[in-house]
Amino acid sequence: MGWLGNPLRPLLLLLVMLTPHSGQLTLKASKSPAELILYENGLLECEIANLSAITLNPNNLGVLWVFTGGTEELNIFMYSNGQITNLWEEAELSKNSILDGNMSLFLRHVTLKHLGEYRCEVFIPPNDKASLTVKLEVLARPTVTIVSEKLVEVGTGGEMILGCQLNGYYPCECKTDWFQSNPSQKKTKMLTDICIAPPIKNPDGTCNVTTEVRLEPRVEDIGSSFECRVTHKAFPESYTAKAAVTLKEAEIHLSKSSIVGSIIGSVIFSVMLLAAGIYLYMRYIYKVPPNVCDLQMPARFIHQQTAEITCHVSGFRPDVISVGWYLRRMNDAEESFIGESKRNQEIIRFSKAKEITEIGKENATDVNWKVRQSNFVVHDDGTQSLSSTLEIYPDLMEDNKAEIICRVSYPTGTQEKRTCLQVDAIAPKLGNIIAPPVVRHNTSVMLTCPISFFTPRQLTISWYERINGVKSLLLDHTEENEAKNTVGRYSHCLREFTYPDHTYSVYSMLTFIASIQENDGKEYLCEVNHVSLKHQAEKWVKLEVKAFPTLDTIRSEPVNPEIDKEMTLSCKVHSFYPKEISVLWFKDKKAIKGNDTSELIENPEKLYEITTTCTTIPTLSDKKSKYHCLVTHESLPKPKFAEYVPENLVSSPKVKKITCDPPNPEVGKTLTLSCEIMDFYPASIQIDWFRDEVRINEDSKYGIANEELMNERSLCSKVTKLTLSPSTDDHQHQYMVEVYHSKSSTKPQKQCFRLLLKGSPTISDFKMVPEIPWFGEYLSISCSVHGLLRKDFIFEWYRGSEPVKCGVTDSGFVSTGDNNYKVESCLIFLVTAEDFERELIFLCKDRYNNEAFKRRIQLPLKAVAPKVSSFTNCDNDRLKIGGKYTLGCRIEHFCPKDIEVVWYKTSNDCTDYQIMGKPEIDKNGLYSTITKLPILMEKNSVNYVCEVRHEKTNEIFEKSFKLRV
Ligand SMILES: *[C@@H]1O[C@H](CO)[C@@H](O)[C@H](O)[C@H]1NC(C)=O
Ligand SMILES: *[C@@H]1O[C@H](CO)[C@@H](O)[C@H](O)[C@H]1NC(C)=O
Repeated sequence: MGWLGNPLRPLLLLLVMLTPHSGQLTLKASKSPAELILYENGLLECEIANLSAITLNPNNLGVLWVFTGGTEELNIFMYSNGQITNLWEEAELSKNSILDGNMSLFLRHVTLKHLGEYRCEVFIPPNDKASLTVKLEVLARPTVTIVSEKLVEVGTGGEMILGCQLNGYYPCECKTDWFQSNPSQKKTKMLTDICIAPPIKNPDGTCNVTTEVRLEPRVEDIGSSFECRVTHKAFPESYTAKAAVTLKEAEIHLSKSSIVGSIIGSVIFSVMLLAAGIYLYMRYIYKVPPNVCDLQMPARFIHQQTAEITCHVSGFRPDVISVGWYLRRMNDAEESFIGESKRNQEIIRFSKAKEITEIGKENATDVNWKVRQSNFVVHDDGTQSLSSTLEIYPDLMEDNKAEIICRVSYPTGTQEKRTCLQVDAIAPKLGNIIAPPVVRHNTSVMLTCPISFFTPRQLTISWYERINGVKSLLLDHTEENEAKNTVGRYSHCLREFTYPDHTYSVYSMLTFIASIQENDGKEYLCEVNHVSLKHQAEKWVKLEVKAFPTLDTIRSEPVNPEIDKEMTLSCKVHSFYPKEISVLWFKDKKAIKGNDTSELIENPEKLYEITTTCTTIPTLSDKKSKYHCLVTHESLPKPKFAEYVPENLVSSPKVKKITCDPPNPEVGKTLTLSCEIMDFYPASIQIDWFRDEVRINEDSKYGIANEELMNERSLCSKVTKLTLSPSTDDHQHQYMVEVYHSKSSTKPQKQCFRLLLKGSPTISDFKMVPEIPWFGEYLSISCSVHGLLRKDFIFEWYRGSEPVKCGVTDSGFVSTGDNNYKVESCLIFLVTAEDFERELIFLCKDRYNNEAFKRRIQLPLKAVAPKVSSFTNCDNDRLKIGGKYTLGCRIEHFCPKDIEVVWYKTSNDCTDYQIMGKPEIDKNGLYSTITKLPILMEKNSVNYVCEVRHEKTNEIFEKSFKLRV
């Protein structure tokens, strides 16, 4: 198919994808063939017939006009994606009319090159396609000129010649007749003694012909009129031209005397007798040499275009004659024979030497030219005429300036006529270079230079790059047969087209991967050299390489934006060129004000990057809103956008204070703690209750209920309720609600409530001196008890489960005026490692009913890693094989007491032989201990390692012993 080598590959792909079935699309055309007038403008119609059923959209419409001349197809006009590619300068079709459904092709200055078939194809993707074919015929009307004398005297025996010249007509088929009409005789007759020379071709393909009629008018013809009737395709009816000739009686001046008249009469008679005798002699016996006319030929010979040269020989007698054609090329010494016409002989062709020798001609030529004989006519006077036509295919290289000789031989001699061939080339016409409307960075681009209608075929094409007027050659195309070549990044290919008149068109296509650094802003020249040109012809195009922006997905900050709080959307736009760009933000198609763009960043590839942000406060109704970041850039046919829908909108819960019902709870009476959790979104939420950091599960003591609350803002709200029947053990304890809304925050929210039971004493927080206790130091810890209604309470201190006997001082019951008493209790003791992670409990016990109110504390003590040192009972110099020694490590001042000791001999575990001491509290109030390993020296040298690990601090100590004898 002619699609190959098509510069618009996307369109091709589109077509390949098309299914052959056609949809609703139908086209209508003018009559085919369309007849256009030579050198005028004309229209090849192609319109969408059912336009009302179809919507045309520039991005979804393809139009292609394909020209077929002979067997080859050539794309001449394309429309795709709203862009026009016009490969024939003389073919026009406007975008507007395409979108109106009018795909008619307007051809300017129609010539014979345009003869052929035109196919109009229209596609509406995905699968609507229609095409129609219009045949183009070109017509040229002849200009008709009559050549005649104005006034002809009849009766003198004179001959009259009337010529009917038809010039510049096409097609070359044409019929010309001459008619004579005589009004007095009321008759019209067709004249038969006519002489038609073969039509002569003009360089533009049109023809000239002359039809001559010879007459010997008589007296009865006076008053006749003569007309030439032309029948040609370009005339709807036959065209008639009148000859402006008048026949008139000859004036004979006779004497008035009849005697004289009779004498003269007899004289005339004898003269006539004589004349008749001469006439008969002349006609049948006398040999008359021929008249050889000047050679008839076209005004111009074109390289490799058929042309005819005619040699007209007339007025000879008898019919023994031959017309020979000879050729002498520029550098030939002698002429060579082409062929000849003889009386009564058919066309004679000589091309092979053998035939030539048979005929006895030496030096025959190698050309394949033809000699044709036409129009052998015997005239009334017995003379004859003959036309011999030589059909030639001149070649510019070989036949320019060659001499062609027509030699006429007859019994009494020879005559010849010569002409010198001037063979012309036809210069190529360069159309504008075709480049894609937008050249994209890192994509393949094809520049097409249309070179049209030239001959001969040899052509040099060079492509150049031009920067600031400085040209540099990209590649040269000279080799005729090499249709494709590549130089560096550039590759070149040709698409050729031959017209029936042997002229050529070539599309020279340069392909490369366009990049901004290499190709932007540079000019690309197509330079053509041809024999016909004095100076090379050139066309150029300037490339603008563009890179279209890529938009990353829009990010929001925070990732889950919160309702009624500021959110910032940002979008990175990158890899574009040139740097001019416009970015706008929209929410549901309405512009958002107050957006911001970062500075432009340029990367080494000359591509730009920008980040644009926009800040807004979303509401719950924005959950389905579309936020668009819209980018307009000259590389984009239409703006590009990135979209963001805040599907993850959240609202973090507001957790209110815990309330208690009844407000003053009493021991044994059911109470409810409630906490309202307001305005959160989405609905999934986790709610937990804790008592002193310990999670409460629903059981016989506790009831937990969560209830939904109505919320007019369509956010979620809940209330959570904890029900319990408190005992004295619950007094002064902390109840806590923890709310975890994972969508809005990774941290839970908390609310605490300290339960104070009515009538129960309250124990204050512990007070420590010093504030931070330390091992081996004394600590004074105290608290006070308020709200004692009676004096029947006893107070106790516990270290862990052990009651403390010493170091406690109580203030005794002090009345506080409101019928209550208060007591202060203080404990002073030496803090040791045993107190690490151990609870200290203060107990206030009712002596009667044994109700106990407790307060606990764990001292804020830190774990301490041990100090490890090694010792032995031997001197390294005095070690002996067979000697018994002890290795040991002191592990001192650590807390808590969990340690692990491992002994290695070389790398074998020998922990089982160690003697490990029990950790004891030392003078620092910390633990200390010792480990020993008894050994027997068996070898000259041995290594021992003691490894101590303190579990709480996760520290490891290593002591090594290198023993040598
Ligand atoms: C189609 O367009 C051509 C010019 O491009 C115009 O001459 C012709 O009249 C148009 N046809 C119709 C039906 O409008
Ligand atoms: C044909 O006729 C035209 C007009 O008279 C003339 O200019 C031209 O030279 C003629 N062509 C040839 C080949 O003689």
